[in-house]
Amino acid sequence: MKPSSSSSSSSHSRKSGLSSYFITLAFIALVAFLYGEDLACILFNSDHHSNSSLSSTEIKEDDEGCDVFDGRWVYDAAGRPLYEEGECPYIQPQLTCQAHGRPDRGYQHWRWQPRKCSLSSFNATRMLEWLRGKRMMFVGDSLNRGQFVSMVCLLHRAIPESAKSMETVESLTVFTAKDYNATIEFYWAPFLVESNADNAVVHRITDRIVRVRSINKHARYWKGADVLVFNTYLWWMTGAKMKTLKGSFGGDTKKNITEMETEEAYRLALRRMVKWVEMNMDPNNTRVFFTSMSPSHTRSEMWGGEADGNCYNQTTPIEDSAYWGSGSKSMMRVLEQVLPRSRTPITLLNITQLSEYRRDAHTSIYKQQWSPLTPAQIADPKSYADCNHWCLPGLQDTWNELLYTKLFPPF
Ligand SMILES: *[C@@H]1O[C@H](CO)[C@@H](O)[C@H](O)[C@H]1NC(C)=O
Ligand SMILES: *[C@@H]1O[C@H](CO)[C@@H](O)[C@H](O)[C@H]1NC(C)=O
Ligand SMILES: *[C@@H]1O[C@H](CO)[C@@H](O)[C@H](O)[C@H]1NC(C)=O
Ligand SMILES: *[C@@H]1O[C@H](CO)[C@@H](O)[C@H](O)[C@H]1NC(C)=O
Ligand SMILES: *[C@@H]1O[C@H](CO)[C@@H](O)[C@H](O)[C@H]1NC(C)=O
Ligand SMILES: *[C@@H]1O[C@H](CO)[C@@H](O)[C@H](O)[C@H]1NC(C)=O
Ligand SMILES: *[C@@H]1O[C@H](CO)[C@@H](O)[C@H](O)[C@H]1NC(C)=O
Repeated sequence: MKPSSSSSSSSHSRKSGLSSYFITLAFIALVAFLYGEDLACILFNSDHHSNSSLSSTEIKEDDEGCDVFDGRWVYDAAGRPLYEEGECPYIQPQLTCQAHGRPDRGYQHWRWQPRKCSLSSFNATRMLEWLRGKRMMFVGDSLNRGQFVSMVCLLHRAIPESAKSMETVESLTVFTAKDYNATIEFYWAPFLVESNADNAVVHRITDRIVRVRSINKHARYWKGADVLVFNTYLWWMTGAKMKTLKGSFGGDTKKNITEMETEEAYRLALRRMVKWVEMNMDPNNTRVFFTSMSPSHTRSEMWGGEADGNCYNQTTPIEDSAYWGSGSKSMMRVLEQVLPRSRTPITLLNITQLSEYRRDAHTSIYKQQWSPLTPAQIADPKSYADCNHWCLPGLQDTWNELLYTKLFPPF
């Protein structure tokens, strides 16, 4: 039942008398009862939202009734990608898969289709108008950097060449849209809290140590941001325990290190972040997002593939809608428990499940390598495939379409 027909039928029934009005009502109630669905979702099946004019209360119901993270991937040859790889100069060479020889392009053409509604179509001008005079900042690890770059690529076509710039100083990268007096920024803080991996360049550390209660070293750079998009996950996943430090880095830190369950350390760090958000982000004038865990595809056995494979040579998404691979459920539970308690609302971008399907979207071997490949690696490409990061354009554009939909609901 689409909104235009439901509104016209109800106005028609009003004309033809009270009894048919009640029959209509009873029918709707029956349908709602039979299908056990949210009434708003039956009435306003938002595949047809473009022609409806809904009151604000109805908008609210529908927004809550439609879980935009619940859906499926649809191949869209003409509608995706939203920009070309060669057209966006800001993509770092670790993510330009075509330039590094990726033979297939299918991964660029999948569009996310929520089950009960559609995503708002990304309008760069509208987003830039909204960002006017604002600072939007992504804070987190290299996966969040990918989402930041995707956002810049989605917007940059709407900005003339002379009116934009990008600059990196240490941990902070700033994209400026001059005519809008707006910046979109990325700040490197892979654990959000202070850690021994905070150096923007030299951070490939296996023996990771965090100070779970210490955030101001980074957070002083976030002050004044109007929009924050956080992530943190992969750096925590080094084993069952996490080394945490009391006191400061420098000197003989060994004595002050305690080991903690990873989930516990994660919880303390997130609570610290929430506390900072509550104290620094005005709920009336700012928006805070948190992007959930980005999954990896390092073992093809998990989706019924060959025994020793990974994301290398994967060209299609996983079709099993129940598939849940690497994403840690216990870490997800921490997000579920900590984020909703924030007095300044934090909008969760729950991208984990939809990204779990995308074994095909990783950079794999098609990226700039940190060091020259060895003959053994060259002989066995999957041995050096990167199954954590994502090609651009690609999956992470969808994460930003979801962010955009949360800012501008389609209903
Ligand atoms: C909206 O409805 C009108 C008439 O009912 C129709 O002509 C128009 O194409 C519709 N627009 C969209 C976007 O569906
Ligand atoms: C995009 O947004 C701008 C500004 O809000 C508006 O003028 C324009 O019509 C929109 N474009 C599309 C295709 O909807
Ligand atoms: C530009 O935006 C900043 C906030 O990011 C604001 O403080 C400043 O007044 C704005 N400048 C102009 C010229 O609007
Ligand atoms: C351990 O932490 C305590 C309290 O923060 C501090 O006084 C002490 O200097 C630290 N010790 C070392 C070896 O870093
Ligand atoms: C937010 O807005 C409400 C209603 O306008 C107001 O009562 C409240 O004090 C505001 N909160 C802050 C932190 O400014
Ligand atoms: C890639 O996968 C296809 C089947 O999907 C297979 O035929 C081919 O041998 C694989 N290539 C490599 C290099 O593993
Ligand atoms: C995110 O979505 C998954 C399923 O798609 C669900 O299991 C999980 O509870 C959600 N997480 C949060 C924090 O809402």
